[in-house]
Amino acid sequence: MKVCCIGAGYVGGPTCAVMALKCPDIVITLVDKSSERIAQWNSDKLPIYEPGLDEVVKKCRNVNLFFSTDIETAIKEADLIFISVNTPTKTCGNGKGRAADLKYVESAARMIAEIAQSNKIVVEKSTVPVRAAESIMHILRANQKPGIHYDILSNPEFLAEGTAINDLLNADRVLIGGEETPEGHQAVEKLSWIYEHWIPKQNILTTNTWSSELSKLAANAFLAQRISSINSLSAVCEATGADVSEVARAVGLDSRIGSKFLQASVGFGGSCFQKDILNLIYICENLNLPEVAAYWQQVIDMNEYQKRRFSQKIIESLFNTVSDKRIAILGFAFKKNTGDTRETAAITVCQTLLEEGAALDIYDPKVEPEQIIDDLTHPSVTESPEKVKKAVQIHSDPYSAVRATHALVICTEWDEFVDLDFKRIYQSMMKPAYIFDGRKILDHERLQQIGFHVQTIGKKYQRTGLLRSWGIVPQL
Ligand code: NAD
Ligand code: UDX
Repeated sequence: MKVCCIGAGYVGGPTCAVMALKCPDIVITLVDKSSERIAQWNSDKLPIYEPGLDEVVKKCRNVNLFFSTDIETAIKEADLIFISVNTPTKTCGNGKGRAADLKYVESAARMIAEIAQSNKIVVEKSTVPVRAAESIMHILRANQKPGIHYDILSNPEFLAEGTAINDLLNADRVLIGGEETPEGHQAVEKLSWIYEHWIPKQNILTTNTWSSELSKLAANAFLAQRISSINSLSAVCEATGADVSEVARAVGLDSRIGSKFLQASVGFGGSCFQKDILNLIYICENLNLPEVAAYWQQVIDMNEYQKRRFSQKIIESLFNTVSDKRIAILGFAFKKNTGDTRETAAITVCQTLLEEGAALDIYDPKVEPEQIIDDLTHPSVTESPEKVKKAVQIHSDPYSAVRATHALVICTEWDEFVDLDFKRIYQSMMKPAYIFDGRKILDHERLQQIGFHVQTIGKKYQRTGLLRSWGIVPQL
């Protein structure tokens, strides 16, 4: 069997790499319109950072896994084609700011229709609105050449960045939606056969196409909702003296609720949660279900509130002014173990601090410096990109980033931050020295003993750190 995947991004890359690893009898060609991205996939420095990915790619590349810009040949030769292109939120026109922009999915479908000379199974891997398969089918069948048959399947991807390889190797489930016709069933079986190379058959779930499409949006909405729920309670904790970690533990031990995705934070980021919930909201509005739309809108509103709340807490704690103060930002990616910054909460935190006149010293182990500057000078973030460039310094080492700063802000939960030498950091910072732990990963007791004034999410600290630094409570 020959497989082609259109879109060599965060999903297409790892998915095809694992598929190639587990299916030596299948030849997989991953194509992209970006020649730069394909060149990176063919180089020693892959375009994305994902633990374990390098090893898998090295093993399979040019054996049964190929990266190419020759989209035409790959489509012509393939029996099965994954569409794994980006589906961002629309930035203009109908549904601007909410609806999914399907222009890349549509262009992939049109390419297939134009190029295909034999039967194809076309698989929606991209996250799409429910009933998007209908549009793809419409394009394909309207341009159908005689004797060519198309089957359309929905096969959403549930991997999370930073754990993509493990998620793909040990998927909780693989979901395949297809048409309820004999041909549809056959197509489902063919795709299922690929996954059966490594996924137990009982974990391969088949549904109708629309259920599959909607399940993907629903899964992301549920996950994000849990984070917004615990983040909403973090505000209650800070106001009352309850500790959100203790609350999350107590609640999560109820086996009906479960303990995962209850980590209060500076707010969720990433390319999926917000986009997919907005997509769901737009669908609900169009279906004249305003109450349902409003319900899911709250998940996003709460996330915005959390990001703003944390940023404001930093400013208020620093005597209500950060003008001309240096602040270190540790972590810029939207979560650990990825270099991806799409929708990262760090952008909101940095934007707020920059607007208040702070100078920022930023360190992230995996995000490229150009990416940070691009994000912070984007027109949606600032009207004065030159001013931002002057106020931001990117560091390749956390100790240089924190030197002579008034405060240190943790925006990403990178493991290496836990093991930093905080005594050394304390000595190199301005006093009083503040730490704002937006990820709740540090040992706050210990930091307070060193002399730091600590603030975090969902727990109110006495100002002992501050009192220590003023000599009211003895230093360690
Ligand atoms: P991405 O932006 O990293 O990659 C998409 C790639 O598609 C880009 O390299 C782009 O150049 C290419 N492309 C677009 N149109 C093309 C065309 N017509 N021909 C050839 N190449 C084309 O996106 P991603 O993060 O991989 O996401 C892809 C889809 O998977 C989205 O729908 C997303 O919602 C979904 N998804 C993403 C994740 C994730 O963690 N990133 C997880 C699950 C699902
Ligand atoms: C998500 C879904 O988990 C995945 O199934 C889907 O395919 C794509 O979208 P991803 O965005 O890569 O994956 O990462 P995820 O681990 O879900 O984290 C998303 C954001 O939520 C991150 O910013 C993370 O730090 C935050 N988060 C996660 C929390 O704040 N608290 C938690 O308890 C979990």
